[in-house]
Amino acid sequence: MVEFALPKNSVVAEGKTWPKPEGAERLRELRIYRWDPDDGANPRIDTYFIDADDCGPMVLDALIWIKNRIDPTLAFRRSCREGICGSCSMNIGGLNTLACTKGMDEIDGAIKIYPLPHMAVVKDLVPDLTIFYEQYAAIQPWLRAGPDPKKERLQSPEQRAKLDGLYECILCACCSTACPSYWWNADRFLGPAALLQAFRWVQDSRDEATEDRVSYVDDIFRLYRCHTIMNCTQVCPKGLSPAKAIAELKNMAIAQDEAESR
Ligand code: SF4
Ligand code: SF4
Ligand code: FES
Repeated sequence: MVEFALPKNSVVAEGKTWPKPEGAERLRELRIYRWDPDDGANPRIDTYFIDADDCGPMVLDALIWIKNRIDPTLAFRRSCREGICGSCSMNIGGLNTLACTKGMDEIDGAIKIYPLPHMAVVKDLVPDLTIFYEQYAAIQPWLRAGPDPKKERLQSPEQRAKLDGLYECILCACCSTACPSYWWNADRFLGPAALLQAFRWVQDSRDEATEDRVSYVDDIFRLYRCHTIMNCTQVCPKGLSPAKAIAELKNMAIAQDEAESR
């Protein structure tokens, strides 16, 4: 039998347990992935305790509490703390979600926090989103239409309603990094977030590049690596359904192919 040895730096070790805050009556335990590319050490899991009576209710509040009171070297992204900017996405208690909208009271026991899965890590909880943003840019997320009109481009209420369930996407990457097809083919499969955004522009009555947009995604890897596993829809913290948008794009691609072959 062939034996494989894991690379030395693939082992996540038990890290430091930081002292409990003095005088705290209600503690919460957080076990957090730590990795610093500059120290040459393996990733590790550090254990922290926060004083729940002195901290806000969300997981992001706890991370900020730890950074301010215990360990200023802990790295994570955040900005709005309102579920709007998409910066604080991470894997909490085994699910990709936003730290700022995830209540600590939704999790029993120790709160386990990792960076978004299957992404290169910049440091600690900060994933490298370079490819994710390149894929977003590739679907040309802007209005492609003729010269500017003298007044605004009008939409009927019905046309505008078609963007509901799509325009709310905050590009947090929770869906793409929960998708097994994306884990294995992130270099060629656009992933649920970019495909939902592609469909958002296809659905926009003001956009005139529908055929071109559908042709771009109509590819064995870009679109058809989606096997309708539905992880994307299950994890989206905004309650959107990338899987449904992808199914609609597949229908449009098939219809366009059939029309072209007639
Ligand atoms: S439905 Fe498609 S995009 Fe969504 S998780 Fe499954 S394979 Fe990935
Ligand atoms: S579809 Fe949902 S999970 Fe995916 S990037 Fe947009 S907001 Fe995040
Ligand atoms: S900090 Fe903006 S979405 Fe969480």
